[in-house]
Amino acid sequence: MSAMTITSFSADDLERHLPELGALLHACVHDGASVGFVLPCSVEECEAFWGGKVLPTLRHGRLVLLVAREGDAIAGTVQLDYDTMPNQRHRADVRKLLVHPAWRRRGIARALMTELERHALRLQRSLLTLDTRTGDHAEPLYTALGYQAVGVIPGYALDPDQACLEATTFMYKALEAAHAQSAA
Ligand SMILES: CC(C)(COP(=O)(O)OP(=O)(O)OC[C@H]1O[C@@H](n2cnc3c(N)ncnc32)[C@H](O)[C@@H]1OP(=O)(O)O)[C@@H](O)C(=O)NCCC(=O)NCCS
Repeated sequence: MSAMTITSFSADDLERHLPELGALLHACVHDGASVGFVLPCSVEECEAFWGGKVLPTLRHGRLVLLVAREGDAIAGTVQLDYDTMPNQRHRADVRKLLVHPAWRRRGIARALMTELERHALRLQRSLLTLDTRTGDHAEPLYTALGYQAVGVIPGYALDPDQACLEATTFMYKALEAAHAQSAA
């Protein structure tokens, strides 16, 4: 089996790999992931998300886009959005943690999140926030990584089949090392 690598993508990298990232998002949504999209969801719509929403923020320099590869194949991704207001320059949002259904339970998400925290510390973002569908597989992962759940909002988002509204759990993690550094 090929070794997994994690790379921080530039805007040009994203443009070059837009079809693969679109395909990754498309596969996750069709596998039932609740990541902002509802079915039917076309590959074009997924590519438009990367090109229209992610690319401008990446170009603006307020986003870290990590991509995990198994050999040449893109297996997973996650984003650190640090386009925050002036009173929240210590905070960043974790967004769109996606691992292709074919590559699950091999530690890719955990590795992506660990690498993301390294980037957050480098950027002096000591408070990470995220939200996830209540009861999803991502919840135990975030808990194991030290994220605290602060609450659940019922009926927050439509499920991908548009059959019902589902709850979302909001979580945060204060990065210890950054706190220790700023206190020193
Ligand atoms: C959630 C997701 C990112 C996990 O990716 P992954 O690479 O399979 O996760 P990992 O292999 O790193 O697993 C890490 C831990 O997460 C938890 N976990 C992951 N998948 C799980 C599952 N299917 N059932 C139960 N726990 C699970 C486990 O605690 C696991 O640790 P373990 O394997 O030692 O038991 C992946 O299932 C996914 O992309 N889902 C769809 C998109 C999504 O919901 N993203 C989160 C948005 S907030």
